[in-house]
Amino acid sequence: MAIGTLVKQPDGYTAFIPDEFPSTGLLDFPPAIIAKAAQAERLIGKLDGITHVLPDADFFLSMYVVKDATSSAQIEGTKATIMDALEMSAGVSVKETDADDILYYIKALNYGSKRLSSFPFSLRFVRELHKELMTGARSSHFADPGEFRKTQNWIGGTNLQNATFVPPPAADMHNALADFEKFIHINTLMPVIQAGILHAQFETIHPFLDGNGRTGRLLITLFLFERAILEKPVLFLSSFFKKNQQLYYDKLNAYHNNKTNDWLHFFLDGVIETANQSIETSKKITALRESDMRKIQALGKREATSGVLFLQHLFKNPIASTAMAVNSMGFTRPGGQKLIDRFVEMGILKPLDETAKYGKTYVYRSYIEIFND
Ligand SMILES: Nc1ncnc2c1ncn2[C@@H]1O[C@H](COP(=O)(O)OP(=O)(O)OP(=O)(O)O)[C@@H](O)[C@H]1O
Ligand SMILES: [Mg+2]
Repeated sequence: MAIGTLVKQPDGYTAFIPDEFPSTGLLDFPPAIIAKAAQAERLIGKLDGITHVLPDADFFLSMYVVKDATSSAQIEGTKATIMDALEMSAGVSVKETDADDILYYIKALNYGSKRLSSFPFSLRFVRELHKELMTGARSSHFADPGEFRKTQNWIGGTNLQNATFVPPPAADMHNALADFEKFIHINTLMPVIQAGILHAQFETIHPFLDGNGRTGRLLITLFLFERAILEKPVLFLSSFFKKNQQLYYDKLNAYHNNKTNDWLHFFLDGVIETANQSIETSKKITALRESDMRKIQALGKREATSGVLFLQHLFKNPIASTAMAVNSMGFTRPGGQKLIDRFVEMGILKPLDETAKYGKTYVYRSYIEIFND
């Protein structure tokens, strides 16, 4: 199924000009795709249900987001890890990292999911998301945050001649974006198929100077959230794309090379694998929570009450210090330190750096490890 053609430009290079989108026939999917999509949507439903009944779900969700943000930024070349991002947001980073990119991704995702309660999923929304993602980010000085590009860009290679792929020139890009916006509003497709096509078409148009990959990956989660097949944004594909990075690029390439269904198979496999994994993760979290809760309940009544609140806080911010216990939890300094000591005795918290004497930092390592696989 062709979705566009390569056209030689006046300047001598060849660019991809998308056909009117969606082209006739693009949305006639073979039974194998429909079957896979149905399976994917079943699993998404199951995941959504499970995360829904998880106690403290909102706290856990922020870790899924950190994980996705980390993988998504790593695809772009960011070296920082989940731990680096957590340390930076807890304000206890000791080394210089590029974790700020991860934090911007988190900021954009949170912005997007809130914004959708009062604003339509539209081109304007896409630009806002890009602005949140790129403003201030270290690696993004030339990205023109929130603005569609006015010049030609390319993917792979070092110039327009040797590029892997040259997206449409700015004028054609605007036509393609107008079609893209109309496509978003179609509501007769299976959402999971629509999300897959949406991502590939967005990457084909490549409307920003930089940050197209990250913005496009945010769109997947936010689209499914908006279509209400997710009650909360809980399906994050970036780790799957990171793990299969070359395949991810190859299949995007296939999408605009007449093999759109190759892309969809890959995408749906990703949804299925990711949903299954996230269901497993939820189970592991529940088990860990139960066993740590039992330890806490065994403390004296007053300590147990603050302990439960503290544990809940750790699900969101698994890096702790006395200062954090004082500032975020409202404990007194001695009270906070005593509780931390108890958590260390019970094996819930571990010191980040054994040698530090003052202002020690502690880590809820068994929890972070669930997300580290
Ligand atoms: N052959 C291809 N055709 C279409 N899109 C592609 C192709 N190869 C890669 N891409 C997409 O382009 C993205 C890179 O574009 P860009 O650098 O603008 O985005 P980014 O967010 O800065 O980068 P990254 O994806 O590396 O995080 C990739 O992540 C992928 O989504
Ligand atoms: Mg980039």
